[in-house]
Amino acid sequence: ALISMRQLLDHAAERGYGVPAFNVNNLEQMRAIMEAADQTNSPVIVQASAGARKYAGAPFLRHLILAAVEEFPHIPVVMHQDHGTSPSVCQRSIQLGFSSVMMDGSLGEDGKTPTEYDYNVEVTRRTVEMAHACGVSVEGELGCLGSLESGQAGEEDGIGASGTLTHEQMLTDPEEAAEFVKATKVDALAIAIGTSHGAYKFTRPPTGDILAIERIKAIHARIPDTHLVMHGSSSVPQDWLKIINEYGGEIPETYGVPVEEIQEGIKHGVRKVNIDTDLRLASTGAIRRFLANNTAEFDPRKYLKESVAAMRDICVARYEAFGTAGNA
Ligand code: G3H
Ligand code: 13P
Ligand code: NA
Ligand code: ZN
Repeated sequence: ALISMRQLLDHAAERGYGVPAFNVNNLEQMRAIMEAADQTNSPVIVQASAGARKYAGAPFLRHLILAAVEEFPHIPVVMHQDHGTSPSVCQRSIQLGFSSVMMDGSLGEDGKTPTEYDYNVEVTRRTVEMAHACGVSVEGELGCLGSLESGQAGEEDGIGASGTLTHEQMLTDPEEAAEFVKATKVDALAIAIGTSHGAYKFTRPPTGDILAIERIKAIHARIPDTHLVMHGSSSVPQDWLKIINEYGGEIPETYGVPVEEIQEGIKHGVRKVNIDTDLRLASTGAIRRFLANNTAEFDPRKYLKESVAAMRDICVARYEAFGTAGNA
């Protein structure tokens, strides 16, 4: 059944688990997520970005998610719009039937320029007012995703600030977070702790100076009743990087957010964990390997089946590691 994010995250907080929120663009991702949820008895958050809507088209995306709800009626599903850039973008998603939206007012309508605090409060507050009247949940964001290692925003996938950010902008302030939640009444708050979108998060396995898990603890201590969201939380599996590069890929050395660090976050109020890149890497690795090993094959179902299996394994691992499993 389709449920709101508030319903799911309240349950997660009560029981102390986290929920991976996987980005969805196509049938294979949708199947992988649902089969893994079915296998582990996990509730699901699927999220669609502006890029996904552009790729698949809004009606296809909507019906892909509704098809999942129909085929797996026993699994609770949150249909979430990722990184909305204005209240009107969120409004259109609500009209399409999304049960949750993100109003990312940390960036302007271009999805790139960092904004002032007051602007963020205003667009988020307006979105909450509209969404709550429709029974839809809202995720806000305070602070900008970016690399504490380089001081760069890292906008390689087109979502995120561009250019140079200050250390301050890249770490959400606990006091400001408390004010923001009070002023906007958001259901969940995305915070900045040094992660960024895409595969190139860290040039070395991250330590506390570049991945600020301690900041999560400080924010949670200040606003213990707010559901926290970690963006840019792919772990960038080294085994998949190796497979991609073994079969013709050229991805330079890079590191993601270790699962153990996310688990630490979940102990301190993190309830939603955004993951897109890991499924992209697994899918690409599986397809490269299959095609290299089966050079006479040309039926897309053969290699896409490999893609589904690889993504499903990642989803199962995250459902289990985050404690989502068994909570559907
Ligand atoms: O928020 C970032 C997600 O990875 C979505 O990326 O805009 O390429 O769909 P995308
Ligand atoms: P990754 O690029 O780390 O998978 O993050 C995805 C994300 O935050 C989507 O909003
Ligand atoms: Na989101
Ligand atoms: Zn994000």
